[in-house]
Amino acid sequence: MVSVAVLGASGGIGQPLSLLLKLNTNVTKLHLYDIVNVPGVAADISHVATNSEVKSFLGAKQLADAVTGIDLAIIPAGVPRKPGMTRDDLFKINADIVKTLIEALAEYSPRAFIAVISNPVNSTVPIAAEVLKAKGVFDPRRLFGVTTLDVVRASRFVRDLRSNVDAASLRVPVVGGHSGTTIVPLLSLASSPVELSESEIKELTNRIQFGGDEVVKAKDGAGSATLSMAYAGARFADSLIRAIKGESVVEPTFIALAADPAGAEEIRKLGAGDLDFFAVPVELSDKGVARIVPLGAEPSEFEREAISVAAEALSANITTGVNFVKGA
Ligand code: NAD
Ligand code: LMR
Repeated sequence: MVSVAVLGASGGIGQPLSLLLKLNTNVTKLHLYDIVNVPGVAADISHVATNSEVKSFLGAKQLADAVTGIDLAIIPAGVPRKPGMTRDDLFKINADIVKTLIEALAEYSPRAFIAVISNPVNSTVPIAAEVLKAKGVFDPRRLFGVTTLDVVRASRFVRDLRSNVDAASLRVPVVGGHSGTTIVPLLSLASSPVELSESEIKELTNRIQFGGDEVVKAKDGAGSATLSMAYAGARFADSLIRAIKGESVVEPTFIALAADPAGAEEIRKLGAGDLDFFAVPVELSDKGVARIVPLGAEPSEFEREAISVAAEALSANITTGVNFVKGA
């Protein structure tokens, strides 16, 4: 029995993500919440012949019911980028949206796992943490920024260079954050070794860091990644759901490092310094983050340099999120 809420279910990500969750046989209840169009989306998805029950929740008055009795909330609510914008340009609108949704979760499902997709993830996750802290229900093991799309892109983009690589099974740990140079793919630590030249590593790293821009540019004003994000979000949600059901699963995700202070030490030594949030590979259990998984080997010098560049930008993003809630 796993109950999942999608908050922002009528959107470009929300609709295909909800459909993919309807196909997940471990999901028993699917609550779809949005401020527009959600009765139609829910009615449509509810006809898919799997056993889960789909319910629609429309507008602020139904938010409390939408998030009551939930094991996992996935949040793709908020505005996407247009060409010429950075993810940080979304902060003004999305910060408030995320804050409101987390306040409701803190009140009505304080033990739920929360997976934040809304950008800028580097700031919206710290916002979520501060709101949960203010409500006295923060458990750093249960809050996740979804960075799976970076991991998905890394596998796929390696395959674009090496046609003998299986994009579906190759795993590249991606650490740091989720925007531009805060995204640090550790290509040297891929699940199976890939021989790449220095210039290929540089180009590939840049492409993974700015993969979102490729989609924003191609969509030409009609938004950002939705379908690949729904795939990535469903993949991450499936890992969380399997963890809730007792499996041990490893996924990179943007977390509060307080979730595993001992494991965080290695990450800090790599260049994360005193940052409170960082994307790292974590082992998940029914309690959330069971531990930060050690990288297993030293990243290359190029990757360590990229981590220190990421850390500087991340620090500012995190402070912006924290200050938003503290009113500083
Ligand atoms: P979209 O505009 O298509 O959909 C957003 C949905 O959120 C809409 O249905 C809208 O009605 C809803 N919404 C707005 N305010 C709300 C509120 N207060 N409560 C509930 N729902 C609300 O946008 P999209 O393309 O689905 O993108 C959504 C967000 O995801 C954006 O911020 C985007 O930048 C982000 N995103 C993140 C990643 C990632 O890797 N983490 C990838 C792609 C997009
Ligand atoms: C992405 O990586 O595709 C998302 O964060 C959306 C964006 O704004 O690029």
